[in-house]
Amino acid sequence: MIILSLPGSPGIERNLAEQLGAELVTVESKVFPDGETYIRLPRDVSGSPVVIVQSLYPDQDRRLVELLLAVDTCKDMGASRIVAVVPYMAYARQDRRFRDGEPISIKLVLKMLGYVGATHLLTVDMHKSESLNYFPGKFLELTVLPTICAEVLPELKEPLVLAPDLGALKRARIVAEKFKLQYDYLEKFRDRVTGEVTMKPKQFDVGGRDVIIVDDIISTGGTIAKATKILKSMGARKVYVAVAHALMVGNAYERIIESGVDLVLTANTIRREVVQPKVKVVDISTEISSGVRKLLQG
Ligand code: R5P
Repeated sequence: MIILSLPGSPGIERNLAEQLGAELVTVESKVFPDGETYIRLPRDVSGSPVVIVQSLYPDQDRRLVELLLAVDTCKDMGASRIVAVVPYMAYARQDRRFRDGEPISIKLVLKMLGYVGATHLLTVDMHKSESLNYFPGKFLELTVLPTICAEVLPELKEPLVLAPDLGALKRARIVAEKFKLQYDYLEKFRDRVTGEVTMKPKQFDVGGRDVIIVDDIISTGGTIAKATKILKSMGARKVYVAVAHALMVGNAYERIIESGVDLVLTANTIRREVVQPKVKVVDISTEISSGVRKLLQG
């Protein structure tokens, strides 16, 4: 087996190669002066199963083109199986036409991956799991939130696992059931006269309790900051946040820390250039290796 590492690999390639007993090959890449993407496989992969590791962030479009070029080249060279390991899948949130005339972007991304030759796909905490059905080959989605939450749960006082909205309730349930905890979601209310939106936990009082908010992604930090301010104003003791993908766009980090978040826990699904003191990154490379094994056996 050959592990092909692309520029968007979040630094898990060495562990994957070791754990899977595979050869690690770094794909050459550059950007032409006019902005076009170039890649080159420095090794023949004919007859071998290849695992291509590439997260689609930062720079979603560049990372996507690199991935498509790499898969297509592996197919041309005669790789026996092509597994795309994409810990962070970009475009996952555009999974329906919110307004007429919009594309279902995740459909195109997953169909393209299959079309160019990816036979298998492994990804982590998709925005909606159902989207993966657009991929024509075999796929596996890892849910890493229980692993992430396990890092702090023993320290928490009367923990409540909370989804920031109804859409994330399934994630809260998965974590809560695993650790036998209570879970809930933030329900939105709109004042019919002023239009003002307020939120509060549907079922439980958070006063004096530690809350762990679980979600798939932090992008601008708006969702988490808003939820945290509300929870703290209701008397929550500490607010922890566990997300699979902490993109932290722009001033998202400052925004959520100012809102009162005590610690953000996340997985290494994307490459992180800066160390942020209140962000703890949990390594999930072992889960990914096991996932690749499972995918190829199944
Ligand atoms: C929304 O449905 C997602 O699950 C996230 O809650 C959202 O995309 C996070 O974005 P932001 O950090 O910009 O609020």
